[in-house]
Amino acid sequence: MESLFSAMIVLLLVSFSCFTSSEALGSNIGNITIKWDLMTWTPDGYVAVVTAYNYQKQRSITRPGWKMSWRWSKKEMIWSMVGAQATEQGDCSMFKEFIPHSCVSKPTVADLLPKTPYNQQIANCCKGGVLKPGLESAFQLSVGNAGTSVKTARMPVNFMFMAPNQQYTCGPSKNVRPTRFITADKRRMTSALMTWNITCVFEKSA
Ligand SMILES: *[C@@H]1O[C@H](CO)[C@@H](O)[C@H](O)[C@H]1NC(C)=O
Ligand SMILES: *[C@@H]1O[C@H](CO)[C@@H](O)[C@H](O)[C@H]1NC(C)=O
Repeated sequence: MESLFSAMIVLLLVSFSCFTSSEALGSNIGNITIKWDLMTWTPDGYVAVVTAYNYQKQRSITRPGWKMSWRWSKKEMIWSMVGAQATEQGDCSMFKEFIPHSCVSKPTVADLLPKTPYNQQIANCCKGGVLKPGLESAFQLSVGNAGTSVKTARMPVNFMFMAPNQQYTCGPSKNVRPTRFITADKRRMTSALMTWNITCVFEKSA
């Protein structure tokens, strides 16, 4: 009886160590997924909610936080942003009445700080770019000079995800099945107009 018991303990320990080593392996496989959900069309483009998910089990993005950049496919520019900001406005001199938030063709965007006024926040924004395992970080932007239909809106390309002391490589932008949302009262489903996904994987410590 006693030997059976100790045999079981050994078995348990062996399976436990197998479990932990495969867990450790899994932590190298995780990714950062960036998702663009187009929510509404505007007279000259669209409003999108962009969410970055940290699907890495053990790797946190710490202060001063993540940044992401991309290249517009056409002549798009950013009219306004909520929950994050472009690091450069660029040359918006061709606009006379309303001045865009950013006119650069390769914008870099950074999260806002936690002390951002509530009326300038959206859900999951404003954590100073800190992104812990399993969590998400979001911002909203209004894009102009863009297509205004599923047929004409162009995905941004050449994504980069930057984090302190970490190097990531992002794959291509993919047009995927539009995200379904459930309303707060759980009685109605809505859907994004279009959804674009980009997956970035950790390369090395920098
Ligand atoms: C990214 O990680 C998530 C969660 O582990 C996984 O479901 C997804 O397939 C991964 N994406 C890619 C492109 O590997
Ligand atoms: C796109 O990304 C979201 C968030 O990670 C995920 O839920 C969804 O399954 C992805 N779609 C595809 C086709 O990979």
